[in-house]
Amino acid sequence: MKRSVDERNRLNDLTNKEWLQQTKSFWISKAPPRDELKLQHPATFSEHDIERLIRLFTRSGQTVLDPFVGVGSTLIACLRTGRRGIGIELMPQWCELAEQRLAAECDNSSSPQDDIQILQGDAGSKLADLDSESIDFVVTSPPYWRILEKNGQKVAAERASRDLPTNYGDEIQNLGGIEDYDLFLGKLGEIFAECARVLRAKQYMAVIVSDFRHGPQYYLYHADLANEIQQRGMVLKGVIALLQDSKNLYAYGIPYAFVPNIHHQQILIFQKPESD
Ligand SMILES: C[S@@+](CC[C@H](N)C(=O)[O-])C[C@H]1O[C@@H](n2cnc3c(N)ncnc32)[C@H](O)[C@@H]1O
Repeated sequence: MKRSVDERNRLNDLTNKEWLQQTKSFWISKAPPRDELKLQHPATFSEHDIERLIRLFTRSGQTVLDPFVGVGSTLIACLRTGRRGIGIELMPQWCELAEQRLAAECDNSSSPQDDIQILQGDAGSKLADLDSESIDFVVTSPPYWRILEKNGQKVAAERASRDLPTNYGDEIQNLGGIEDYDLFLGKLGEIFAECARVLRAKQYMAVIVSDFRHGPQYYLYHADLANEIQQRGMVLKGVIALLQDSKNLYAYGIPYAFVPNIHHQQILIFQKPESD
């Protein structure tokens, strides 16, 4: 049967029926096992989930930006969906792995790699080089404060026992190394203000984060970050819970206290308002 896209639809290439399926406030994450290169990075997201976001928020051939691109998952999703992609990453070792993963992906597909760019450096300064209103969709997952630096985390201990890196690396501009939570949020807010500048009016930005525990306290990171970004002019349009039902369960706290296994992320969806 012929797919018919509503002629009023300027956002994506989905039929109205396909679009409807994407409006649920929860999605079940689809995350196949990570390849050896991807496994090196301690905090990646799934290309499948990002492909779904890209198809919802862009049309074929449009440009997607990820200011914290890590080992390039967003750029691989761009190749698979026929979008142009720009990724920024501070750490040279993750840029190198992203290049290798993209090359391997291109061997497996006919997509040209010319439409994909990796910019190595601090997101704040690299974003300043991009033109205003040149991007159609921003999708990213920023550092979760200093959470990877915490000692005694079960996931980190497991990775260390397999000789895998447990943090992003030592660079003074690493946002994941900032001690003070409010200072960290402010710095991140400045980067998202730049993302808003380069985004075209009426287009969307998806920020994927999870809440976390630190010491005795539970941090509503998704809410704190949403406030920070809204203060910079973006409008929060919704939050999708991304359910990660296949993660390992750890017996935190048992049999003394309630300590949750956090098995979902929040996808914060913002829209850039029209300029007056
Ligand atoms: C949550 S990870 C993103 C992983 C990515 N989604 C993937 O699947 O590979 C956040 C990334 O932000 C990077 N980062 C930290 N501070 C940065 C900065 N100031 N500018 C650019 N990247 C930064 C870290 O090195 C890390 O790779």
